[in-house]
This record gives sequence, structure tokens and C-alpha cells, in this order.
Amino acid sequence: MQFIKRDVLKEKPASEATLGFGKYFTDYMFTMKYTAEKGWHDAKIEPNEPVRFDLATTIFHYAQGIFEGMKAFKRKDGTIGVFRPEENWARMNRSADRMCIPQFPTDVVQEGLDELLRIEKDWIPSAPGTALYIRPTIVATRIMLGVHASTEYLFFIILSPVGSYYAHGLEPTKLLVEDYYTRATIGGTGEAKCLGNYAASMKAGEEAEKKGFDQVLWLDAQEKKYVEEVGSMNMFFVIDGEVVTPALVGSILPGITRKSSIFLLKEHGYKVSERRVSIDEVIEAAQNGKLDEAFGTGTAAVISPVGEIEFKGKKYEINGGKMGKITQWLYDEITGIQRGEIADEYHWIHQI
Ligand code: PLP
Ligand code: COI
Repeated sequence: MQFIKRDVLKEKPASEATLGFGKYFTDYMFTMKYTAEKGWHDAKIEPNEPVRFDLATTIFHYAQGIFEGMKAFKRKDGTIGVFRPEENWARMNRSADRMCIPQFPTDVVQEGLDELLRIEKDWIPSAPGTALYIRPTIVATRIMLGVHASTEYLFFIILSPVGSYYAHGLEPTKLLVEDYYTRATIGGTGEAKCLGNYAASMKAGEEAEKKGFDQVLWLDAQEKKYVEEVGSMNMFFVIDGEVVTPALVGSILPGITRKSSIFLLKEHGYKVSERRVSIDEVIEAAQNGKLDEAFGTGTAAVISPVGEIEFKGKKYEINGGKMGKITQWLYDEITGIQRGEIADEYHWIHQI
């Protein structure tokens, strides 16, 4: 793979304690182009520098683009590990199909990512709760204002050393149940990790933030009755001892942390149900003292406890606003496997 070196390397962040999320970017990026004539070609690693685009480029007008999120960790034995990347490539190609983007060769991008991580290994932070966040993205690059699928694309991977996604770290989050705006409908793009989903969710997110919430908890678009997910994580509730998570009905992102969490919880004897969960069921459980715990799962969010939800103007505290036992266990298990402190029994770690 071609490697274009830069003359001067960037200065690395001064402290791992103040990384935040997505503020710093490494020296290099992986790129690959697509044209109808050549297919995917020209895979290379080059300096991560601003790129010039014509302002009539499709991505700026019609958001024909998709992305992924994964993490690389410095493991206990000194190796670099990436958590389940093959799952992300598979999901990215499913998102590509939904957005009329051509399928990409997963072996080429995995090889590119491995090489990029070898070059950028000094950017991987090692403090607990930190990782090197990996952002693979595809954008439509044809210069054309007609509303048609592009015939040209750019695939890129950029890297960012990160701490926790939420500014308050592992402190339980506060969620506002959104009963006006919707994120996704069946037959829409909710299942795909496409750019427009995030743009469409910002209005509700900003309004919730102004009221002091971390994020919104989305309900289904048709009936505003069933819990779907949060803008950057899938949701789990522990109701009367049973772990419940909304079923993947077509409008929810099939999270890789969600899938891993369901597997781990079941392996360790917890009762887990993937089914529709109405907001009324959650509120009733909270009122009757049966909502033991609530948490979100995601690559950026990891396992995030939820300490409070507000629905129709009423606040409901969960587990005294503290991280619950199952949430803590799952957090320790997943981060332990990622960091090599717990054996990788299920072969989830891609070692570099
Ligand atoms: N839901 C949405 C809308 C997301 O953006 C994400 C993050 O990728 C998730 C859920 C969690 O998915 P994963 O666990 O694969 O990161
Ligand atoms: C992730 O968890 O990787 C995400 O993509 C969520 C968010 C930062 C958009």
C-alpha cells in the first residue's frame, strides 16, 4: 500500500485526562477512491490534511454518505487490539447498500486500517477509559446537482484519541423522552449508519441539552409508544430482574456493543429479552420500584448508566441516580476484554 510521509508530525495532546471526544486527530489517514470505470482503487495512507472539494459535490447537497465507529486499544500485553472490526465492515456494507453506495472490499480496508494503526501506535492512549477512536467514512464525490446516486466516492479512515463520550464521564446520564420529533421510521434509514440520521436528530438533541439533559430517548415514529434508542447508543432496561432491550424492528441501529452485551449477559446466566418495550412499561416499572437499572451501549458511549429519564414533564430517577450492578458488571466485562485484562474467549479482538 502506498504511504505518503509528512515532513512534520503534529503535536500530541498534552494529557490523556482531558482528551474528550473527537477533538484531536492523528498525523495520517487511509483513503481509497471509487469511480464507475475503475471500481475501488488507489488505496493509500497519506497525511491527514484538509482536502479540497468542489462545492457542487453530491455529499454537500444530498448527504449520500455513511460512517462507522470503532476503537483500538493498547492491551495489557502491549499489543494493539481492535474490537470486532469485521462486524463494523459488514454493517458499513449494509449501510452502503441502503444508500446506493457500491460495496467495498473489506480485506483492503482492514489491511489499510492495520497499517494505519501500526504507523499511529504512539497516538493510542493507555489510561483507563481512553482509546483511539476509528472513524471510517464514505462520501459521494461526483460534481453534480441532479438527485442521483453518485458515480464517484471517497472512502477514508481518520483516527482520534478519545476519553469518555460524555463530558461527565461515567456519571449516569439524564435522558429526555422525545415525544414530538422522530429519528427514524420503518422503511427509512434508521438501520443504516448514514449521515442524514444524525443531522435530523440534532434539533431534538439541542433542545434537550438546553433543558439540562445529555440526550434524547427516541420513541417509534408511528405510535410514539415504543422505546427505540438514543442518538449514539442502544438502550437496555433491567425490569424486575429481567434485562430488556428494544427488538431490531427496522428503525434502530443494530449496535455491535448491543449484540456483544446481549451475548455476554446470556452467557453469564442473565435473562435477556429482545422485544418491543413501551415507554408506559418503563414508566410503570419506575413508579413501582421495578426499574432496577437502565443503560446505553455504543462504541463511543461504551456502557453508559442512565440515572434519570423525563417523560411528559415528570422525572423518574433510576437506581438512586447511581450506576447499577449489572451495568457495572457489563462495563467491566467489555472493557476488560478490550484491554486484555479478561481473556478474549469469543475471539472478538483483532490483534495488530
Ligand atoms: N445507535 C446509534 C444511532 C449509533 O450511532 C450508535 C453508534 O455507533 C449505536 C447505536 C451503537 O452502536 P455500536 O455499539 O455498534 O457502536
Ligand atoms: C459510535 O459510537 O461510534 C458512534 O458513531 C456514535 C456517535 C459518536 C455518532
